[in-house]
Order: sequence, then structure tokens, then C-alpha cells
Amino acid sequence: MKHFTSIHDVPNLDALVNEALKIKKDPLGFVDIGGQKTLGLVFLNPSLRTRMSTQKAAMNLGMNTMVINMDKEGWRLEMNDDVIMDGQTVEHIKEAAAVLGQYCDILGLRCFPNLKDKHEDYSEEVLNKFIKYSGVPVVSLESATRHPLQSFADIITIKEHATKPKPKVVLTWAPHIKPLPQAVSNSFSEWMVKAQEMDMVDFVITHPEDYELAEEFTLGATITTNQNEALSGADFVYVKNWSSYNQYGEILTDGNGWMMDNAKLKLTDNAKVMHCLPVRRGLELGNDILDGQNSLVVHEAANRVYSAQTVLKKLIEGNKL
Ligand code: CP
Repeated sequence: MKHFTSIHDVPNLDALVNEALKIKKDPLGFVDIGGQKTLGLVFLNPSLRTRMSTQKAAMNLGMNTMVINMDKEGWRLEMNDDVIMDGQTVEHIKEAAAVLGQYCDILGLRCFPNLKDKHEDYSEEVLNKFIKYSGVPVVSLESATRHPLQSFADIITIKEHATKPKPKVVLTWAPHIKPLPQAVSNSFSEWMVKAQEMDMVDFVITHPEDYELAEEFTLGATITTNQNEALSGADFVYVKNWSSYNQYGEILTDGNGWMMDNAKLKLTDNAKVMHCLPVRRGLELGNDILDGQNSLVVHEAANRVYSAQTVLKKLIEGNKL
């Protein structure tokens, strides 16, 4: 593994999940592999889980970590090439990424989309420039279109809690008051489609009209606008809001009737309910579910340590650091 930005960096999904489960059983079993190498974590947007779980993962491998919240502590970055920087931006990504690459052996980057320009967001300009100019292995800590460490933690969680060989996994859209990125849903779908190809799950997506995700992430999934039909017989329900991809970044409905709660849970096969967090209680997901026995949200967050630890280990090995 040279970088980790999507499922496409994973040659064997089943083997990767098994490795994570092995690491989880003995988190300090590879404490010498990090060799005091430095992991730099660069956040252009807020975080709780990603920041702390990735630091913990690095510590478990014997790495040092440095964190910068670029949005609050760093210079305002310029992304455009051939620009005269006479506006608000102070430092070009060419220099900033190159300098960070001098201090760190591996870099993680969080860079949300602006949700204004679909082409710009889906070209992953910031992530790709960061990879290009830093010159070191890069881990996505959630980019404009994907959140692979989250998706990896989610599939670990599904494997741990599955009670049948090929569980039915449903990704359901949820209401929200703000336009949110498609990244978590794109990424979860991409990982589930791969898992379905490997006969690990049956995967269904349900959302209101005009909330289709980009086809590159969903091809192979069953997609329906009938949420009740999708939930029927589900073993896992993954709850997530996203703004429209086609009418880019827009909220098209208040989502009345789409929130997952205990009444909807009755349609499922006593499904376990997942959400990447942070979650807006009573809006995206019912308090009854979050406070009940079927919620896996804290388990998913816990598994973020082991998804990050497995990826960092692979990057150390793959790049002979
Ligand atoms: N799920 C997740 O990525 O959480 P944070 O945004 O808090 O890192």
C-alpha cells in the first residue's frame, strides 16, 4: 500500500479486515513497527473521532504524531496554480505540503468539499495536490468524496456483529438541516459493493427521489426510493444524510418520515443500526435507537483505532519506512 485514499488501495478486502481483527485482539503486538517514525495529521475541517483514533493507532505502533488544525492554526492555503496571491490566501499548497513532507514520514489529511462546484470537489484537487507535493505516503482522513478509514471501521464492525454468512446491509438516507457531503455514503457504498462482489453481504441503498449518489460508487447495489421495502429483513442499517449529488449540494426535502426509529426497526430482522457520528439525535436517528440495544455507533467509533492501525502498518510495510 503506497497511499490510502479509497477501496482501490486495498488488494484484498477480506484479508485486510481479518488483519484488523487480529490487531484488535493484541493492539500492542506491533509496537516496534513504527520505530519512532512521525505521523502528521493535517485537518482543514473539525474532527473528534478521526483525530483521536488515528493518534491512538499511531501510538499503538510506536509512532510519534503531530497534529495541525490548518483551518484555525495554519496559514490560509492557496490551491490554484499560476496565481498572483494578492488576496486572502497566504501560503500555497505546493510549499505547505512539501514542508510537511520534510517533517513527517506519513501524512493524514482531512479536506471536506465546498459543495458548490461538483467538478472541483469530485476531482479531489486538494487531496491529489497534497499527495503530489508532500512526497510521502498519505492517508485520507475524509476527503471531498470519500471517508475510507470510516468505511473500513464499518466493515470491521459488520464482520464482528454478523450472525449469518451474508447479512443484508441497508444504507438509508436520513434527514438533516444542513447540506452535508456525500463522502461517507459514497465510501460506505464503494466498500459494500466490493464486499457484495466477494459474497460477504447483500447491499441495498434507499433514499428519497433525486438523492442518487454518483454511479461510480454505487454500481452493483440495489437502489430504491421505498425505504420500508429496503428495510424489510435487514440485518444492518447504516444511517446517513447526504445532500443531493445531481442538484449539487442542495437539500431537496425536509425528509419527513425518513428518520430511523424503533417503529422502523420492526420492519427489519432485528437489525443493528450504524452511524459514523457525529449524529443529530431525534433528527437523523431516533433517541430510542441510539439509547437501545441495537445501536452500534460506539462500536464503529472504537473500531476506527483498528482501521487506522491496520492502514498505518500497511503503509509502513509497503513503503519500507
Ligand atoms: N466519523 C468521523 O469521522 O468523526 P469525526 O468527524 O469526529 O472525525
